[in-house]
Amino acid sequence: MRTLMVLKIGGSVITDKSKKTREIREEKLRAIGESLKTLWPKPLIIVHGAGTYGHPLAKEYNLNMGYRDPSSLEGFVKTSSSVRQLNSKVVEILNEIGLPCIGIPAGIVFRTRRGIIESVDLDPFLASLDIGVTPVTCGDVTFDRTLKFTVLSGDSIAVYLARKLSAKTLVFATDVDGVYNYRDNERQIIKELKRGAHLRIHYRDIGDATGGMANKIEEAYNAVEAGVEVSIVNGLYPERVVEALLGRPVLGTRLII
Ligand code: IPE
Repeated sequence: MRTLMVLKIGGSVITDKSKKTREIREEKLRAIGESLKTLWPKPLIIVHGAGTYGHPLAKEYNLNMGYRDPSSLEGFVKTSSSVRQLNSKVVEILNEIGLPCIGIPAGIVFRTRRGIIESVDLDPFLASLDIGVTPVTCGDVTFDRTLKFTVLSGDSIAVYLARKLSAKTLVFATDVDGVYNYRDNERQIIKELKRGAHLRIHYRDIGDATGGMANKIEEAYNAVEAGVEVSIVNGLYPERVVEALLGRPVLGTRLII
């Protein structure tokens, strides 16, 4: 489906990671939603991060380690319920704006093995796209064949779907303008980032359960290899998100092999 666009909205765009409270940054989401509406009915899948609805719990209960004892189940179910709430709110807001959306719980349709996606039920995504409804899924906790359960990032989901469904574009909307190059105390946006160069960059570690910018980019190259145009843009500027989804040049970082 070379017309498909996949958008990952970072948890740091729709929640305030500096606060750790479970609150949605509604105006930011509304602004993105208003811009995305202009793309309808072009096929689009939205994946959003868990932000403060997922990371603090994932850390507190060490969910990356999977099932350890019956008490670890508490963390699993609490996180599942929390990200489900966020997903419902996101869907509600986007629908209110007039972008027809439906929430698809990643923890139910994706199955992992040691944290890597092993299988997915694509039917809900395809059926939804078929009738012009935008599927909205998010980073979640999943049932894992080895660990019993684990954390699955929205980045991995977005890359997987973009590859599997041969998307045209995959855009990561983050809270920064793109990937920076720091030189002589000055920073510059890297407009095109080659895989080799990416491996030499030292990224700031933000200590999230799912690994921040370095992991995002490493995974994203799998989509680039499959022919998807991948870029990282600032989600606080919705017009950049839309332009990048359409494959047009925009301020941000484009990944190239
Ligand atoms: C994290 O998803 C999932 C959980 C912590 C349950 P993401 O990794 O996609 O979330 P953000 O974008 O970093 O917030």
